[in-house]
Amino acid sequence: MAGSWLGLVQGFGGLRIAGGHLRFAPTLPKAWKGYGFNLRWRGCALRVDVDARGVRYRLDEGGLLVFAHAGSEVVLEPGREVVLPLAVPSPPKAVFPRACQALIFDLDGVLTDTAHTHYRAWKRLADGIGVPFDLQVNERLKGVDRMASLEIILERAPRAYSADEKRALADTKNGYYVQEIAKVGPQDLFDGVRGVLDAARAAGLKLGLASASRNAPALLQKLGIADCFDYIADAGRIVRAKPDPAIFLDVAAALGVPAQLCIGVEDAAAGIEAIHAAGMAAIGIGDARALRHADAVIPRIADFDLRTFVSP
Ligand code: BG6
Ligand code: MG
Repeated sequence: MAGSWLGLVQGFGGLRIAGGHLRFAPTLPKAWKGYGFNLRWRGCALRVDVDARGVRYRLDEGGLLVFAHAGSEVVLEPGREVVLPLAVPSPPKAVFPRACQALIFDLDGVLTDTAHTHYRAWKRLADGIGVPFDLQVNERLKGVDRMASLEIILERAPRAYSADEKRALADTKNGYYVQEIAKVGPQDLFDGVRGVLDAARAAGLKLGLASASRNAPALLQKLGIADCFDYIADAGRIVRAKPDPAIFLDVAAALGVPAQLCIGVEDAAAGIEAIHAAGMAAIGIGDARALRHADAVIPRIADFDLRTFVSP
């Protein structure tokens, strides 16, 4: 019940309490005739009714009440009511640059399914050394470089590992991964990747790749799309890993495009954070909850329609 009340009053009524003051910004969904609610506030009893004619505020009990309606101050005396126009919902922020000149893609989990390949390789390693590891922990590994991923896995290890042991573990995991991608070919590209890359090229956009994986250049060759990119970041040369913006800024600089005219495409929360920190708009591919900070989220790259984000 409390959730429903909050959904109605804060969601549709737009109630916010800031600096000890009430603020309302009521809107009316098209399919609704109206709604209303009561509110007790510092000894006052306020009734709010919303319909197509506007918003009626009535003060049933208490002294003078001062509040904001759609950004304007309202002073209501006891026993009085006032009817004001509905708040106009603000349009979604235009975060995608109209003059976009470059798309910068992550690789694993965006262009091909290697996010799961990395998971299986880490799982094999973790099982081998008796460290619990599951898909939930794996979410934290996405976009994170090899050694930092290992550190996250070892948080649950029953003993400490020396630097040499860690290097050996990272090499073992990479061995498992390289073994798994040996047979990768163009058939392993996610559906729609070719179409997106070709459409972007035809629209005159530059294409960059910002993957934290040191295996990225070899993987792109196997997938047959290495030639589609104007620049591929060298993960080994990027000192600060995602969520630091370094890799996206490196790609933008190499493409010769200002960051604010680039759009980044990522499947990892750390990657979305990195794109934003670089001053770019971010498209998330995958689960909208995990990628809730992205400017737009689409479930699969096959759903990527360039015209939605870039004007012709
Ligand atoms: C990222 C992946 O793209 O690359 C991570 O999302 C992976 O899971 C990281 O750990 C580093 O990859 P590699 O191939 O250099 O170990
Ligand atoms: Mg990824």
